[in-house]
Amino acid sequence: MYSKTLLSVSLLVAVLSASNAVDYPVNNTAGGTAGGVRFKNEIGIGFTRDVARKATRFIWKTFRETSPGDRKGTTVVGIFIDDMDGVAYTSNDQIHFSARYIGGYTGDLKTEFAGVMYHEMTHVWQWNGNGQTPGGLIEGIADFVRLKAGYAPSHWVKPGEGERWDQGYDVTARFLDYCEGLMRGFVAELNKKMRTGYSMDHFNQLLGKSVDQLWADYKAAFPQT
Ligand SMILES: *[C@@H]1O[C@H](CO)[C@@H](O)[C@H](O)[C@H]1NC(C)=O
Repeated sequence: MYSKTLLSVSLLVAVLSASNAVDYPVNNTAGGTAGGVRFKNEIGIGFTRDVARKATRFIWKTFRETSPGDRKGTTVVGIFIDDMDGVAYTSNDQIHFSARYIGGYTGDLKTEFAGVMYHEMTHVWQWNGNGQTPGGLIEGIADFVRLKAGYAPSHWVKPGEGERWDQGYDVTARFLDYCEGLMRGFVAELNKKMRTGYSMDHFNQLLGKSVDQLWADYKAAFPQT
C-alpha cells in the first residue's frame, strides 16, 4: 500500500517535471579559434547549461507563466558558439553566441555571457504578437528581463534617457521598467496580450494611457541635466 502510494507520487513528480523539461545541447563549433578556446576554458558547457536553465525559470516567472499551457511548447534550445561577428542572435529556438565576441571581451566574461543569455533566452520564450510586435519592443522586453535579473551592464543608458519608447534594447527596457513601476506585472500582461497579436492599445488597456503619453510622463519623471 505504502509503496504503491510512493510509486504514484514518484510518477506524478516525473510527469510534472517532464512538462517543465527543456534540453540545452551546447555545440562549440568554434573550438579551433581563440574565442572558442576561451569559451571552453573560462565559461564551459556546464556553466552554459546552468545559466540557460536559470534564465528559462526566471523568464517564466517574470512573464507569470505558471503552468505549461501559458508557455511556448519548446523542449529543446540549442546553444551554439560560432565563429562569427556581432554578439549573439536567436532564431528557431537556437541561440548563437559569437566566439569572436567572447575572445575579445574585456571585463567579467561569465557575467556578460549570463546577461546575454538572459536576453537571448527571452527571445525563445516571449510572444511576438504573431509577428506584429515592433522589433524595438521585442528587444526592449529581452533587455527588461536582463535588467530585472541584475545583469544590466554599466554602459547602458540611465533611466529617462533615449529618444523614443520603441527605440529598443536598454532605452525601451528602462521605459518598460517605469511602466512596471506603475503596475506590477505589466510586462507579463503585455507579453500575454501579444500571444495572439499586437496593438499600441495594449498600453491603454493595461495602464489607462497611450504609449505616447506614458513616454512623455516617463521623460518628465527623469529631467535630464
Ligand atoms: C555541431 O555543429 C556543427 C556545425 O553546425 C555540426 O556539423 C555538428 O554535427 C554539431 N555537433 C553536434 C554534436 O550536434
